[in-house]
Amino acid sequence: MHTITLEVGKQFHTHKGILDHDCLIGGPDGVTVTIGTTTYLALRPLLPDYVLSMPRGAQVVYPKDSANIVGMADIFPGAHVVEAGVGSGALSMSLLRAVGEGGRLSSYERRQDFADIARANVERFFGGPHPAWTITVDSLQDALAETDVDRVVLDMLAPWECLDAVSKALRPGGVLCCYVATTTQLSTTVEALRAHGTYTEPEAWETLARGWHVEGLAVRPQHRMVGHTGFLCTARRLADGVEPPVRRRRPSKGTYGEPLTEAAPDPAGAAAPKQPKPPFRPQLP
Ligand SMILES: C[S@@+](CC[C@H](N)C(=O)[O-])C[C@H]1O[C@@H](n2cnc3c(N)ncnc32)[C@H](O)[C@@H]1O
Repeated sequence: MHTITLEVGKQFHTHKGILDHDCLIGGPDGVTVTIGTTTYLALRPLLPDYVLSMPRGAQVVYPKDSANIVGMADIFPGAHVVEAGVGSGALSMSLLRAVGEGGRLSSYERRQDFADIARANVERFFGGPHPAWTITVDSLQDALAETDVDRVVLDMLAPWECLDAVSKALRPGGVLCCYVATTTQLSTTVEALRAHGTYTEPEAWETLARGWHVEGLAVRPQHRMVGHTGFLCTARRLADGVEPPVRRRRPSKGTYGEPLTEAAPDPAGAAAPKQPKPPFRPQLP
C-alpha cells in the first residue's frame, strides 16, 4: 500500500513506473490506475490507514485500541477531553473525531519535537488546524489547570504520577482511561487508583483482534495477528468527600505478597494424607 497526498502537476514514482497525480485529482474514490504493468486501487485513506502510514515520533495507539478507548471511555460529541501524551497524534485524531467541532480536546505533551510531529499529522489529516484542539507542551501533572473535564485519557509511561492533577480536573462521574504497555505498569496504575480514594474500582482489559481468512470452504482465523499492543484501564471520578464502597470480594491470600506458608512437614516422615478436592463452586458477586 502507498499513501500519497495528491498535488496538481506532481508525480508519484514507484519501481513499477510513474503516476501523474492529475489523473486522479477531481475523480471519484475507488477507481483503478495502472502504473507500468501493475493495476492499483485508488482510495482516500481511512483514519486507520492514515495512522499506520503517517510519520511517527512515539509509538502510536493502534486503531483497534483507539476504537476501544472512544467506545469504552464514552467519548461523546461536545465532550471536553484531556489527553496526555500526544506522541504522534494518532489517538488525538480519534478523540477529535469523537468530540467533533463542538467539543474540546486539550492535549498535553512534554516533548516539543513530538508535539510538532503530532500537529503536522493532525493538520494534514483534517486539512488544517482542528477548531476543537489545543496542545500544551509540558508535563500534564505540572500544567493541567482545567476543571469540569468530562474525560481524561492517558497514554504515557507513568499515569499514576498524574492522578492528583487528574482528579482535580475531572468532574464527578467523569471517566479516566489509561493505556499502558506492560503488566507492571497496569498493576501500578490500578493499585494507585484504588489507593487514591477518589475513583471507582478500576476495570482493566486488553483487546485482541484476530483477522479471519474467508474463502469458499476455507474459513479460519488468519495465521498471523498483532499479539500485543497494550492494556486499558478505566475508572470514574467519585464526588468530593465520597468514600469508594468497600469491595465485596476480598483479595485471596497472597495477592498482596503476604508470605505463603507451606504445610509443616510430618515429623514421622510419612506423607500427609491427601485431602479430597472441594467441589467447584463459582464465586458469586
Ligand atoms: C506512547 S506516546 C503517546 C502516543 C500517542 N497516544 C499516539 O497515539 O500517537 C507517550 C507520550 O507521552 C509523553 N509523556 C510521557 N509522560 C508525560 C506527561 N507526564 N505529560 C505529558 N506527556 C507525557 C511522551 O513524551 C510521549 O510522547
